[in-house]
Amino acid sequence: MKTSQTPLNELKPQNTSKINQFLDDVLLGLQSNPKQLYSKYFYDAIGDRLFQDLMNCVEYYPTNCELEIFSQKTAEICKAIIADGSPFDLLELGAGDATKSTYLLKYLLDNGADFTYMPIDISENVISYLQLTLPTLLPGLKIDGLNGEYFEMLQQSATNSTNRKVVLFLGSNIGNMDVQEAEEFCKALRNQLSPGNLVLVGFDLKKNPATILAAYNDKEGITKKFNLNLLERINRELGGNFNLDNFEHYPTYDPVSGACKSYLVSLTNQMVTIHNQHIQFLKDECIYMEISQKFSVDEINKMAINCNFIPSIQFFDNKKWFIDVIWIAA
Ligand code: AVI
Repeated sequence: MKTSQTPLNELKPQNTSKINQFLDDVLLGLQSNPKQLYSKYFYDAIGDRLFQDLMNCVEYYPTNCELEIFSQKTAEICKAIIADGSPFDLLELGAGDATKSTYLLKYLLDNGADFTYMPIDISENVISYLQLTLPTLLPGLKIDGLNGEYFEMLQQSATNSTNRKVVLFLGSNIGNMDVQEAEEFCKALRNQLSPGNLVLVGFDLKKNPATILAAYNDKEGITKKFNLNLLERINRELGGNFNLDNFEHYPTYDPVSGACKSYLVSLTNQMVTIHNQHIQFLKDECIYMEISQKFSVDEINKMAINCNFIPSIQFFDNKKWFIDVIWIAA
């Protein structure tokens, strides 16, 4: 097992506060009852690569379903976004490699829409990559990448330009919050917008429970590696000494609530040390790793109304496994 013993005070100053936050969150989470870790920490360079592999694995359907929507319903989606034809800022929360939004960008450019694409991402790499590659791929594209936290960057975009806003939040990223957190998030999003602004959100729908569970328990074991990578990351970056062989991936899905949750189960009584703090695990004790919430159309519409949006158009894939909805800020 590869471990990094770099003491915190030897890290570069610009990384220290991020590492301190990571350490605080990990220790607080593992000292809680039940133990938990934040799934946002899955995405280091290795986690990003594992997530790419996951998106290509047979059982993990959400990415292909949403790609199908964006590739087959491009014109209808863009028509709704263009609306009255007034100039707009197209903001994307957690843009990643912008594969899905590229369908929209191309169509919007080809049809003379007056807009600026503003990808927002916490990763500086993502923003510089998009700033570098998209203008070559899509000549004429106006791009203003924003590197930082979603809500801070949304506020900045409102200061930079008074154009109407269209916000993309794709990939069922909203499912990585529980229902209450998702509602709070949508309310906060609504507070950053003006009446008539649009949001386009991707939700994974409730469906046959076996299909959902299989997506988080793929035969190749990529989801398992994806979860275990967070323990490895703690070893690498925080000098932890997790023995990965002592933990097993355990996904669950409750078809009534739509909560799909992943856990890592301790296979033995064991002590793990992270930055001189000792964490005791009992045999069969779990670490709650991630929620991937699934929704019904009715629940999605209710959430829109609770958050002061008007539910507008719905786009489904052919199997009706995934939905992208347009909501109008009321
Ligand atoms: C990024 N997010 C929407 C994925 C999901 O489906 O919850 C992350 C993931 N976790 C396990 N597989 C994929």
